[in-house]
Amino acid sequence: MSETADLRINDESYALNVITGTEKEQAIDISLLRKQSKFITFDDGYGNTGSCESSVTFIDGDKGILRYRGYDIAELAEQSTFLETCLLVLYGELPTAIELDAFKQRVASYANLPEEVMVAIRGLPKNTHPMAVLSCGIQALGGAYPDLATNDRAKDLERFDDAAALIISASRAITASWHRAQKGEDSISADADKGYCENFLSMMFSANEKDAGIPKEVSNALDLIFLLHADHEQNCSTSTCRMIASGGANPFASVAGATSALWGPLHGGANMAVIRMLNEIHESGDDGSRFVESAKQGKSRLMGFGHRVYRNYDPRAKILKSACDDALAALGVSSPISDIARKLEEVALQDPYFIERKLYPNVDFYSGIILQALGFPTNTFTVLFALGRAPGWLAHWREIALNGKKIHRPRQIYQGETLRPYVGISERG
Ligand code: ACO
Repeated sequence: MSETADLRINDESYALNVITGTEKEQAIDISLLRKQSKFITFDDGYGNTGSCESSVTFIDGDKGILRYRGYDIAELAEQSTFLETCLLVLYGELPTAIELDAFKQRVASYANLPEEVMVAIRGLPKNTHPMAVLSCGIQALGGAYPDLATNDRAKDLERFDDAAALIISASRAITASWHRAQKGEDSISADADKGYCENFLSMMFSANEKDAGIPKEVSNALDLIFLLHADHEQNCSTSTCRMIASGGANPFASVAGATSALWGPLHGGANMAVIRMLNEIHESGDDGSRFVESAKQGKSRLMGFGHRVYRNYDPRAKILKSACDDALAALGVSSPISDIARKLEEVALQDPYFIERKLYPNVDFYSGIILQALGFPTNTFTVLFALGRAPGWLAHWREIALNGKKIHRPRQIYQGETLRPYVGISERG
C-alpha cells in the first residue's frame, strides 16, 4: 500500500500521496490539491518544492554528498575526465572506449564556428558581457544548424547527440573568439590532435595555431573545474533550462536561457565576485579578519560562502581547494589572494555566526583563484562555469523531452489592487 499524508484544512481532510526517491527522500504530492480543495501551496524561492523527478544528480546537502548518476563526485574527479563525465551526465552510463572515442570525434567536428556565427559574435557591441555573448552565440548556433533546433520535440530528440556535442564543443570557440576580438586578434582554429581543454586554452591564449605552450597541469586543472560543475540538480539555471524546455523549445534556446540565468552574482557570477572581494581585501591591507566582521554585521557578504542546499562543506570546494594548491605550484605562481582566501576560511569556520548558519565555502570560493592563475580574465569566470554546466543543462533538456508531459506553469498569490474603475487621463490630475 502506498504511503499518504493527511492534510487538514478547516474541516476537510485530504489524503495526499507520498513520493519516495531512490535515496529515500520523501515528498508530499500536492499536484491534485487545488483541484480537490481550491488551495495552492506557497513556497517563496522554492526551497521546499520538488519541481520534478530526475535521475541525473543526487545531492544530500546536510551530509555534503554530490553524485552524478550514482557516482560520487570525488571518485569522478579522481578518475574521470570532463568529456567522459559529459556522456555519463547526458545519457546515464559511463561510456565504453568506443562510445567515448565517437563522442570525442563528434565534439572535434564541431570545434570551429560556422563563419556566420563568428561574424555575428564579432559584430556584437564591444561592451557586451561574455555571458551575453555566450547566450547569443548558442542561439546563433541553432540558427546555423536549423535541423538541430526545430522546436519539434521528436525531431530535436532524434538529433540530440549532435546538438549536445555542438553546444559543448562550440561554446569554447564562442568564448575564445570574443576574447580575441576584444584584443583585436584573429581567432585561432581548433587542432584535432589536442584535447578538449588544451584546445580551448590554445584558442583563448596561444599566439598562433602552431603554439604548443599549454602545460598539461593547466589543461588538467581546467578539466577538473569543468567536471565539478557538470550538473547540480534543480538550481536556478537548470530550473530555467527545464522551464524553457517544458514549453517545447529546442536545446539551443533552453541552454541559452540557462546561461542568462547563471549570470547573476548569487549564482554563477559568484566566482567573479569572490575574486573582486579577495582583491579588495588585499588592497585594503586586511588579512581577512576585518572583512569577516563586516559580513557578520550584514555590511558585506562573504562571497563564495553559503549555499541554498549544502549545509555542510560543498564537496566540490574540498576537491578544488587541494587542486588550487597543485595548480599554483605547477604554474609557479604565488597568489596573495589565495593566502587571504585560506585565512578567510579559517576565521569563518571557527566563528559562531558562520557555524550557526551552517555557512561553508562553496565551489566558487577556490575556482576563481585557479582560473585567475590560468590567465582567464575575471569577466570570463562565469562563462567557464557555463561551459562546465552545459552537459547538465542538456541532460535536463533531454529528461524533459523524453518524459515531460506538462508545460511548467507555477501559480501565485495575487497581492495587488482589487478591481477598480478606469480613470480617464483628464481626471487623474
Ligand atoms: N556571508 C555572510 N552571511 C551570509 C552569507 C554569506 N555569504 N550567506 C548567507 N548568510 C547569512 C544571511 O545573512 C542570513 O543571516 P540571518 O539568518 O541573520 O538573516 C543567513 O545566513 C541565511 O542566508 P540566506 O540568504 O537566507 O541563505 P540562502 O540559502 O537563501 O542563500 C546563497 C544562499 C544565495 C548562496 C547565500 O549564502 C549567498 O549569498 N552566498 C554568497 C554568494 C555565493 O557564493 N553564491 C554562490 C552559490 S553556489 C553556486 O551558485 C555555484
